[in-house]
Amino acid sequence: MDYSIETAPLVELQCDCLIVGVYESLQLSHSAIALNKNTNDLIINILKRGDLSGKNGETVLINAIPDSKIERILLVGLGEHKPLSGKDYKKALLAAINSLKKPQIKSIICCLAECDVTDRDWQWKTRQIIEVFNDAVYQFTQLKSDKETESKIEKISIAAPETEHNSVQAGLLQGKAIAEGMTLTKHLGDLPGNLCTPTFLAEQAIALGQTYKNLSVKILEEADMATLGMGALLSVSRGSRQSAKFIILDYQGGANKSKPIVLIGKGLTFDAGGISLKLPPGMDEMKYDMCGGAAVLGTMLAATQMELPLNIIGLIPCSENMPDGDANKPGDILISMSGKTIEVLNTDAEGRLLLCDALTYAERYNPEVVIDLATLTGACLVALGRVPSGLLGNDDVLCNDLTSAGETANDSVWRLPLWEEYQEQLKSNFADLANVGGKDGGTITAACFLSKFAEKFRWAHLDIAGTAWRTGQTKGATGRPVPLLSQYLINRANADNS
Ligand code: BES
Ligand code: MN
Ligand code: ZN
Repeated sequence: MDYSIETAPLVELQCDCLIVGVYESLQLSHSAIALNKNTNDLIINILKRGDLSGKNGETVLINAIPDSKIERILLVGLGEHKPLSGKDYKKALLAAINSLKKPQIKSIICCLAECDVTDRDWQWKTRQIIEVFNDAVYQFTQLKSDKETESKIEKISIAAPETEHNSVQAGLLQGKAIAEGMTLTKHLGDLPGNLCTPTFLAEQAIALGQTYKNLSVKILEEADMATLGMGALLSVSRGSRQSAKFIILDYQGGANKSKPIVLIGKGLTFDAGGISLKLPPGMDEMKYDMCGGAAVLGTMLAATQMELPLNIIGLIPCSENMPDGDANKPGDILISMSGKTIEVLNTDAEGRLLLCDALTYAERYNPEVVIDLATLTGACLVALGRVPSGLLGNDDVLCNDLTSAGETANDSVWRLPLWEEYQEQLKSNFADLANVGGKDGGTITAACFLSKFAEKFRWAHLDIAGTAWRTGQTKGATGRPVPLLSQYLINRANADNS
């Protein structure tokens, strides 16, 4: 996709379709006023005929404009004539792009960056346009014989006045970086488990490291993990023919001695449940159990492209979870890298076994903060549905920073309590702790388990079981929480430099 900025007057521009906003009660946006003047009141007449009321998300495509060089105009309803909320802005953008998935439309100019959005500037609006448009035109075609995509759009320009050029340019760079990070994350999530193995993920990481010179990548093999004593992680991998990989990404964009932000992503490339085998319905979707890891790759890619002045470490423990003669058995007791012993009561609670050793490994970086992201519990879907990611952590400042980054990025999180009382549920008769805490509060007890391995630093955990994936007709990976994490990192970079 080619993204650019257009500062010339609208009527002089060449493209297959101009996107302009209209409000309710016959109120036009600036661009719509200009186009209306240039087309003999065409737009106002369409509104007067009642073909568009201006409600947010409505669209009308005008596909022939008499006496004009303009090919097409897409009118997009924005709602009441007042500043939009961030969410309504995204809704209007989505409606616009979804109605332009037509073979004849290859180049578009979007005039929606001029709309007022509460507390948001041109930079944010530009970024949002690129993120939403790129997300909407993405399609996984690699494994289809027919590679045709619904959208034929190749060129997207953002219309802006010359005075806003710098802000729009900054938004364009960030938007492209985040969109590319999301695309990578979605692609890896959509790839099936037979292709997207731990080894494949490691190769993807190595390829990223070869492309970007300030991103270095190292892979730990099972023998290295054994030397480190990663008994919890290795116990999961033992039941699989695929060997485990521990991916380490190191981005040095900040000052030499500044403490790194560590991102840890669950890279479980297929979760059959192990000996505590899952039920068949929907088991195919467990190929997305590596989306935490994929989002770490996507976020590191975005941060690298944005050249953020931060030091960031990405850790991705990768494995499969399969039933096998050598797999974990209920009742088995493992020794984790931290030395804590774990009784495996359910082999399907494997994500925390990978993450606990990765958290212990993170200690060696003396991190500023550690954020882990994982498709960790089905209970998170029960509690929060597919709207926000679950957030739990041991530090209020970090949790608040993530919550506000989520609001800004239109990639929300909702905090759940991590109270001492819940720790009771993880008591084991035979080991330091059990790997499951019964059926109550499953998202919370999973985070309680992790918290025992995150006592030495400020830490937050994102449960993305509900947000990393869309089910139903349009099933596929969403690329979340790449926008949230990218926003958090941008905010950190701005705060450190002010
Ligand atoms: N990967 C699953 C969690 C999951 C479920 C993600 C549904 C996305 C959608 C995880 O490894 C798992 O199996 N968790 C168990 C934990 C239980 C055994 C305590 C679960 O949620 O059932
Ligand atoms: Mn599982
Ligand atoms: Zn899992």
